[in-house]
Amino acid sequence: MNVEFYERIWMWAAVGLLVIFVGTIVLTAANDAVRPPSHIETVDPAALADSPEYGNPAVAVRPDGSIVVSVVTQMYSFSPDPIVVPANRPVTFRITSSDVMHGFEVVGTNANAMAIPGYVSQFTVTFKRPGEYIVGCNEYCGILHHNMVGKLIVREESR
Ligand code: CUA
Repeated sequence: MNVEFYERIWMWAAVGLLVIFVGTIVLTAANDAVRPPSHIETVDPAALADSPEYGNPAVAVRPDGSIVVSVVTQMYSFSPDPIVVPANRPVTFRITSSDVMHGFEVVGTNANAMAIPGYVSQFTVTFKRPGEYIVGCNEYCGILHHNMVGKLIVREESR
């Protein structure tokens, strides 16, 4: 079969691009442990009020000094609100929903996860810039979805 020289170049360019893209995913997944934030931990969405963690969702400091923020999303708010965390320290978010699927996005950062009823979405971020951030829901969740806005305050730590 005769394939034009230029066509041959573009065919191999397309194959090369595929290899680069898939390779990037495989490399970052294996090397930097980059993976989707949802992890396989379940929680009963109907019993959140009785849950030790989600009954009164809050910012907690673990004995080793790490920060854990438990967040419950519901139509149409985030709890706790505002969320107050220190700057330049790893903050682990553990997010769930008591009703429908919501989003949890700290605008202007890469903190972004789905809040899925029945599951805990967990990820860890370090906020470098102190200030006030908007937390937005980025999954359509009902008639007042656009009103589902919270606040995250990143405090400069005094040492
Ligand atoms: Cu919650 Cu949109």
